[in-house]
Amino acid sequence: MRMLLCHFLLISLSCFFVLALTWNQDQQYNQAKNYEGSSDLVDLEYHMGPVLTSPINLYIIWYGQWNPNHQATIRDFLDSLSYASTYPSVADWWRTIRLYTDQTGSNITGSISLTGEFYDTWYSEGRYLSRLAIQSVIRTAVRSYPHALPLNPDNGLYLVLTSSDVHVQDFCRAVCGFHYFTFPAIVGATVPYAWVGYSGTQCPGMCAYPFAWPNYSGKPPPGINGGANNMLRAPNGDAGADGIISVIAHELAEVSSNPLVNAWYAGDDPTAPTEIADLCVGVYGSGGGGGYVGKVYMDSWGNGYNVNGVRGRKFLVQWIWNPVRKRCFGPNAMD
Ligand SMILES: *[C@@H]1O[C@H](CO)[C@@H](O)[C@H](O)[C@H]1NC(C)=O
Ligand SMILES: *[C@@H]1O[C@H](CO)[C@@H](O)[C@H](O)[C@H]1NC(C)=O
Repeated sequence: MRMLLCHFLLISLSCFFVLALTWNQDQQYNQAKNYEGSSDLVDLEYHMGPVLTSPINLYIIWYGQWNPNHQATIRDFLDSLSYASTYPSVADWWRTIRLYTDQTGSNITGSISLTGEFYDTWYSEGRYLSRLAIQSVIRTAVRSYPHALPLNPDNGLYLVLTSSDVHVQDFCRAVCGFHYFTFPAIVGATVPYAWVGYSGTQCPGMCAYPFAWPNYSGKPPPGINGGANNMLRAPNGDAGADGIISVIAHELAEVSSNPLVNAWYAGDDPTAPTEIADLCVGVYGSGGGGGYVGKVYMDSWGNGYNVNGVRGRKFLVQWIWNPVRKRCFGPNAMD
């Protein structure tokens, strides 16, 4: 799908932005694309570039109108990345990402602090954003007066989240989120960033899987909620919010291991790399793949989750390729 997109766009610059979570049907449901079992066929390689080894200062840019409950859920997820909670926790899930190192043998950091937030409630770039316009959104956030975010090229990571009424190029058609780095000519420095859209109204079946099922796929296969048409219930009560969290998790794993698009990825084409989370899309527990999420937990209300977070929260995040075990892995693994 990513390759295809590049062909469509021919040699356009956009081709370089296609570092995206492409939750297309092929990737999501074809067993061949999921590697829950060990595989030597995965050609994940290190390409000598940096990874995020310094403690990360994370800055959120809330673009558009956001529901405060959804914001609170997302903040709690981000806080859970580096704070201990009941095993298996979000921080335990992040340990897989910490297994990746740079040339000097330094691991990806285990410290991610939500350091600043910016509220672009006036849709500074409008409601239809090109991929490149995301960089202009970041520029606005670091230049606004008086509540600007710092421009932090040393250890800053910027997360742009667009609300349900914002249309982003390729959102809901080819991607649920993507990551890249800013151009100094636009933002003033090179900083890694990720964008993820709230899919709750535009395309929950595509980007809030497995809390919503894609209509075009017919009934969910047996094993998901007993094969009924209703899906796994969202642990924090909203498919869009719980769905965006799994996509944020995906993008954070990839931007940390491939921030300048020259570190950890598989495949020969750096403009359409398969990154450490792409290898495990749709897998949330043991046995997952091919349309089955895998063994996950159910709370007493029947909500599905696989990790614990701060303040008693529960979350469902996809597994990540583990370079030591050479398979997709998460802390809720049965083996
Ligand atoms: C750092 O990465 C190496 C190689 O994957 C791993 O053996 C080691 O346990 C990692 N250290 C931490 C703190 O995760
Ligand atoms: C998918 O199904 C949902 C719920 O039945 C509906 O609201 C939505 O419009 C459908 N989407 C498409 C693309 O058919």
